[in-house]
Amino acid sequence: MNLFDTHVHLDDVKFDADREEAIRRAGEAGVSYLINVGINLESSIESIKLAEKYDFIYAAVGIHPHDSVDAGPEYLEAIEKLAAHPRVVALGEMGLDYYRDFSPRPVQQELFREQLKLAKKLNLPVIIHDREAHGDMLDILRAEGAGLPGGVLHCFSGSWEMAAECLAMGLYISIAGPVTFPNAPKLKDIAGRIPPERLLVETDAPYLTPAPYRGKRNEPARVVYILEEIARIRGIDEEMMAKICTDNGKRLFQIT
Ligand code: NI
Repeated sequence: MNLFDTHVHLDDVKFDADREEAIRRAGEAGVSYLINVGINLESSIESIKLAEKYDFIYAAVGIHPHDSVDAGPEYLEAIEKLAAHPRVVALGEMGLDYYRDFSPRPVQQELFREQLKLAKKLNLPVIIHDREAHGDMLDILRAEGAGLPGGVLHCFSGSWEMAAECLAMGLYISIAGPVTFPNAPKLKDIAGRIPPERLLVETDAPYLTPAPYRGKRNEPARVVYILEEIARIRGIDEEMMAKICTDNGKRLFQIT
């Protein structure tokens, strides 16, 4: 299989003991493309370093809602500079997280809007994080989404109605490990309904480990379990499903 894990955090401390082995296992599992996604300036720089070291790894640079409060006044300029690196294929991750609320909501909203504007200026697609903030997420996308050069709702957790509105805005939907859980009928339904040309897969490793490894640390090699579950739901061949999702990722992130 030829797989594209569109959302990974290999710079996370949880990979300090075996980062190179995890990257090797990803390659052996058929992962041919992987985006390491920054969550703050330091992690964005680490993402670029990984992308410089490994041919099949690409970088996204941005400020996660959790880190918004610590971003500092010069952050936007710094992100713009990092984004000029040839291995950077997207801005992110960015968005809203009202589940943890690690940053005040008005700060999260401001940084999200600013990064969306920057993406339009730089003509880069965006990687969007939304957790329990669906109403405000849609409001901001309605206000700032026009003219975006593409984007993805990562680890989608909203309703089908929300997915449909995001699809109508031209966005992609990325499905992560929770789709493999037996108690996720809503997400399985959505994974079956997304138009094939807008569907992406991701691990979000080290988080969101799919079944049957739930509870253990996640890693990009396990994207195959997510892909297999989506292929099962949609009743199509796994190889074909992998090709569709990989082609979608290459199109969105303009990887040739
Ligand atoms: Ni993430």
